[in-house]
Amino acid sequence: MQRKKVTISDFMAKKESGRKITMLTAYDYPTAQMVDQAGIDAILVGDSLGMVVLGYSSTVYVNMEEMIHHTKAVTRGTAYAFVIGDMPFMSYQAGVEKAIENAGRFIKEGGCDAVKLEGGSEVTPVVKAIVTAGIPVCAHIGLTPQTATMLSGFKVQGKDAESARNLINSAKDLEKAGAFMVVMECIPDVLASRITKEISIPTIGIGAGKNCDGQVLVYHDTVGLFERFTPKFVKQYIRLGPMIIDALKDFKKQVEEGIFPGEEHTFKMSRQEAEKL
Ligand code: KIV
Repeated sequence: MQRKKVTISDFMAKKESGRKITMLTAYDYPTAQMVDQAGIDAILVGDSLGMVVLGYSSTVYVNMEEMIHHTKAVTRGTAYAFVIGDMPFMSYQAGVEKAIENAGRFIKEGGCDAVKLEGGSEVTPVVKAIVTAGIPVCAHIGLTPQTATMLSGFKVQGKDAESARNLINSAKDLEKAGAFMVVMECIPDVLASRITKEISIPTIGIGAGKNCDGQVLVYHDTVGLFERFTPKFVKQYIRLGPMIIDALKDFKKQVEEGIFPGEEHTFKMSRQEAEKL
């Protein structure tokens, strides 16, 4: 079947028919190409960029310029997947006008299809304003890394009835505000199931169990390129890190031993021309 660019209607159709939505992060052109070629539905240019690519100790240090720079590379490498740009910390909290302006940059400069921002019911005015400006918004509830300090660290959220009820209400409020999708991070599976059943927009889980409408993982975690810490919800499908180090050691050895470059990597000139030198 001829592949087509993924749209919001495709996500809705998947939710309605029970087919799972797949999402991975990407931060550069070659990774975006590979994720796209693997047939993944959506690419998130996550603010996890700050940790897994730029080496910051937290996502809060990433700024708009860094996000836009990487988003441009991702959209250049994507033909089919739906691309979502992650709004970095303080790009949407300092007022609705600023939030619309920054969301607009992801679309106009970054070439994204939508933006994502973290927060529950308290961010609904911002979600509404961005959606009204014509930009689709993916919400993100549960463990919200940009405000992890307020949540007393990187902990599973919604474990007691009261906080679980708040998350259900947040998901409903975000749907009402116009969000087209909700990422749910680190919440118990029963709560994720309940939210998935009670809202009509798709839910994408990360550490939220298997009953969400789809799943997202950070690319570098999935392929073993970031091993500083690995959360319980991560499944590593391959350990590329050690494989790459072995290949680079081979390069070093072959250069040192005069094996590389070989004849097949070398350009020649005719003996006649060489003699004129
Ligand atoms: O920044 C990111 O990669 C994310 C995902 C973990 C959902 O927000």
